[in-house]
Amino acid sequence: PLQPVTDYWKRPLRDLRISVIDRCNFRCTYCMPAEIFGDDYPFMSESDLLSFEEITTLAKQFASLGVEKIRLTGGEPLLRKNLPDLIESLSSIQGINDIALTTNGVMLVHQAKKLRAAGLQRVNISLDAIEEEVFQRMNGRNIKPSAVLKGIDAAMEAGLEVKVNMVVKKGENDNQIIPLAKYCKEQGIILRFIEFMDVGQTNGWDFSHVVTKKEMYDKLTNISPLIPLEKAYFGEVASRYRYEDSDVEVGFISSVSETFCSSCTRARISADGKLFTCLFAESGFDLRDMLRSNATSEEIGQTLASIWSKRTDRYSDERTEETVKNRKKIEMSYIGG
Ligand code: GTP
Ligand code: 5AD
Ligand code: SF4
Ligand code: SF4
Repeated sequence: PLQPVTDYWKRPLRDLRISVIDRCNFRCTYCMPAEIFGDDYPFMSESDLLSFEEITTLAKQFASLGVEKIRLTGGEPLLRKNLPDLIESLSSIQGINDIALTTNGVMLVHQAKKLRAAGLQRVNISLDAIEEEVFQRMNGRNIKPSAVLKGIDAAMEAGLEVKVNMVVKKGENDNQIIPLAKYCKEQGIILRFIEFMDVGQTNGWDFSHVVTKKEMYDKLTNISPLIPLEKAYFGEVASRYRYEDSDVEVGFISSVSETFCSSCTRARISADGKLFTCLFAESGFDLRDMLRSNATSEEIGQTLASIWSKRTDRYSDERTEETVKNRKKIEMSYIGG
């Protein structure tokens, strides 16, 4: 029987991020720039995507290797047909005690209740600005912040735990840090500020576009002093704080200025079934091929264990001008963040 595994640096395998589709209804400038992800972009076809049965088979093997937490991502995961069916099937896996979803939020208005009923516990919703013009420009599809805010409300009404993610890009939306912080504080919503990362090959990343955690922290103290909080779980990516004058939490995901590879417990599966052991990996292992060539579940489990035990990835720790330029990285919309 399989046992929990650790990698080369003794990091356990705890979280599995599963991308269920590579398409998205947004074209965020830092993720799927519209010039590149146009009408003729070669997105995956239906038969490329892992079926729910295939995903469940993999998730069971991951659970027996120590995975407790599953996060569904995309592209935009809510574009995947019948997603609640997948959530239901994943919820019944022994050992999986946390199922979450990362979404741009607009489709939650219609789907939140069904997702909750299927066993989804929490959603992280991306919102990069509260001012219309800034958000419309940044999401590349002229979508207004109100469409996301409605999704947030629907999620909370359905009983889902909600966190908001804001990717901060210098000169583009850093003037939204305070307005969004104030909005979330008033509404009692946890907001996490994310340092813009050099994922993929298309977002034109440069160190000069990054607003660091320190800079954001200093800005926020104009609202209220911040009290640090303990990590909620081992390997949590966000460093969390509470406003001194309220119970509301705020977090920073500082993958550039304060990296967290030493506690990285995450494996990722792309929508077409490739296994990646780092967000910045150059290539992945084709699990779909194993699934479709009738490998047994045990064989798949052994393969996963063997790959994880050899894992040495720590890209963010090693990031330099050189790796930023020369490493061939997969796109965020492909690997799911
Ligand atoms: P919870 O803590 O479970 O709520 O979720 P999360 O913060 O791990 O997931 P989410 O999908 O909301 O991701 C937030 C940001 O953290 C995104 O920008 C992710 O790309 C980034 N992130 C998540 N995991 C990693 C990681 O292992 N490495 C790096 N560099 N960034 C990560
Ligand atoms: N840097 C940091 N975060 C990013 N995301 C997408 N692209 C980037 C990037 N280049 C975020 C999304 C979402 C999460 C999955 O990753 O906004 O919140
Ligand atoms: Fe879509 Fe999220 Fe990428 Fe924006 S960041 S294009 S919403 S997948
Ligand atoms: Fe994990 Fe790679 Fe992110 Fe480091 S850069 S935290 S190893 S996914």
